[in-house]
Amino acid sequence: MSTLWQGAGRRIHLQEVGTRDGLQAEAAFVPTEDKIALVNALSRTGLAKIEVTSFVSPKAIPALRDGEQVMREIERRPGVVYSALVPNTRGAERAIDARTDEFNLVMSASESHNLSNLRMTRAQSFAALSEVNALARQAGAAVNVSLSCAFGCPMEGEVTGVLDWCARYVEELGVRGVTLCDTTGMAFPTQVAALTAAFRARWPQTELTLHFHNTRGLGLANVLAAIDAGADRFDASLGGIGGCPYAPGASGNVCTEEIVHALDLMGYDTGIELPLLIDAAGHLPVLLGHDVPSQLLKAGRRLDLHPLPADFEAIRERAMART
Ligand code: COA
Ligand code: ZN
Repeated sequence: MSTLWQGAGRRIHLQEVGTRDGLQAEAAFVPTEDKIALVNALSRTGLAKIEVTSFVSPKAIPALRDGEQVMREIERRPGVVYSALVPNTRGAERAIDARTDEFNLVMSASESHNLSNLRMTRAQSFAALSEVNALARQAGAAVNVSLSCAFGCPMEGEVTGVLDWCARYVEELGVRGVTLCDTTGMAFPTQVAALTAAFRARWPQTELTLHFHNTRGLGLANVLAAIDAGADRFDASLGGIGGCPYAPGASGNVCTEEIVHALDLMGYDTGIELPLLIDAAGHLPVLLGHDVPSQLLKAGRRLDLHPLPADFEAIRERAMART
């Protein structure tokens, strides 16, 4: 029997979003071949899903203007789902063209954030995404919907009606999965547990993902609260990079290697080879030209031991001489 503190082999699926949520926020353009190499390295780590890119307006997100080429040229590993963010039908056409396994439809649960980020009302987004859903199905692609600001909006505060939007996507459109996104790090464990449990009780068959940003340092606590309430699927970003460019004060996602490290220690089965993940994360500072938030990258794993001080024997002898 597993409990929250004793994973006892319980499976938790990790989905990498650094190549989308992370890279979209980078000021400097990451060369296409480096993005492809990064996705290929991530594919080898055992991740369940990788959000490779987004098919949004290149004017809105210039950093990901090479989405088609990246999606077409990555090596596809069996068992890994390659997804991309799609906001409208133009994006759907591009995603189909590039053979995207899963379309991640995006809409905000908050009207103000949806207008700022996507230039549409939520009702307009839902109408556009209904069309995207139909196109994805015709193309044989899976559909997930990400609801941004599900735990609070930086402009509106508390956000209500999240489950009503979930109902429209699950029951009207029949999407395979829903992601509840804490876009600006406003979620806290009590709230996370309540929303996760309510979703699970209402739609036990729907794939539920939790997407946390570590903006206020609550990332790992929120992951554990969600696990306790029945969640088994999380977005995370390598190195903890990321942040929505349309959300004031936003910062990176929960860090993939830190979540895997913590869950491994607790006896959960993430299916991920942590050394491969850490190795991939280690390339990020050079690739991006700046430091990344990952503390694990700086400190190493819990039992990565450090050498004794060079004068250790002398210290010991002095200490012994004192007794
Ligand atoms: N892919 C490529 N180009 C697209 C596109 C897409 N999915 N959607 C729109 N465009 C282009 C249009 O062709 C048009 O180009 P033009 O100016 O050369 O004619 C231009 O973008 C504006 O199109 P329009 O339909 O008027 O869009 P908009 O300006 O109202 O913006 C979105 C709407 C959704 C396209 C845009 O806000 C967007 O891409 N947002 C995504 C933001 C994001 O990714 N945020 C972070 C993730 S949550
Ligand atoms: Zn995000």
